[in-house]
Amino acid sequence: MIFSKLTLALASLLALANSAVTRPWLNKDLEPPSPWQVTRLSTAQPSGRPGSSPFAHIFANITNPSPIHAGPGASFDASSANCTVDWVLGTAQPYGIVYECTTAAAPTTGNQQSSASASSAKWTVEILETDPSLYAPTEKLDVRFTLTSDLTVDGRAYSKVLAATRHFEVGDNMRGICGGSGVVR
Ligand SMILES: *[C@@H]1O[C@H](CO)[C@@H](O)[C@H](O)[C@H]1NC(C)=O
Ligand SMILES: *[C@@H]1O[C@H](CO)[C@@H](O)[C@H](O)[C@H]1NC(C)=O
Repeated sequence: MIFSKLTLALASLLALANSAVTRPWLNKDLEPPSPWQVTRLSTAQPSGRPGSSPFAHIFANITNPSPIHAGPGASFDASSANCTVDWVLGTAQPYGIVYECTTAAAPTTGNQQSSASASSAKWTVEILETDPSLYAPTEKLDVRFTLTSDLTVDGRAYSKVLAATRHFEVGDNMRGICGGSGVVR
């Protein structure tokens, strides 16, 4: 168990109850890509007590599990990212801001690119406003994930942008881990 100032100051901490699968939307593509997986999602809202962190927090892990067709004999590698959104509760909202995620290559499925190729995957996350009456989107939120893939094979450049939006809500696909000044982890 880890006790920290931050976790003890949390008024609420909510997490993904079951892993979510999201179909990305692809522009100008014929084959539907395989679904993306949100394996972790959590939100935290500070208690507002003196000395507590002023930051509300959203964390998500998204994975594109399989390579995506780029062109003849070329495909973008699978990738995964950790996405974090922080904002000062009560004075700001996180809506409409594009946050860069920390991207990692997913375990590949034996898909090897030639040495003459270079590929990159960049994930971003954005929280969309669903309900203007919400004080903070920590219990009900729409999250848009965007994956920008670039690949160069033998001097030929390929690029693709995919996006998917997923709704998360307590009582649906999120649950509370603790309330009050509880213990987390
Ligand atoms: C996201 O979660 C999956 C499954 O638990 C894991 O394989 C992957 O490494 C995680 N992504 C990052 C960027 O840590
Ligand atoms: C993603 O987040 C998990 C959980 O916080 C962490 O263990 C992992 O190292 C992170 N991966 C990257 C690539 O930052």
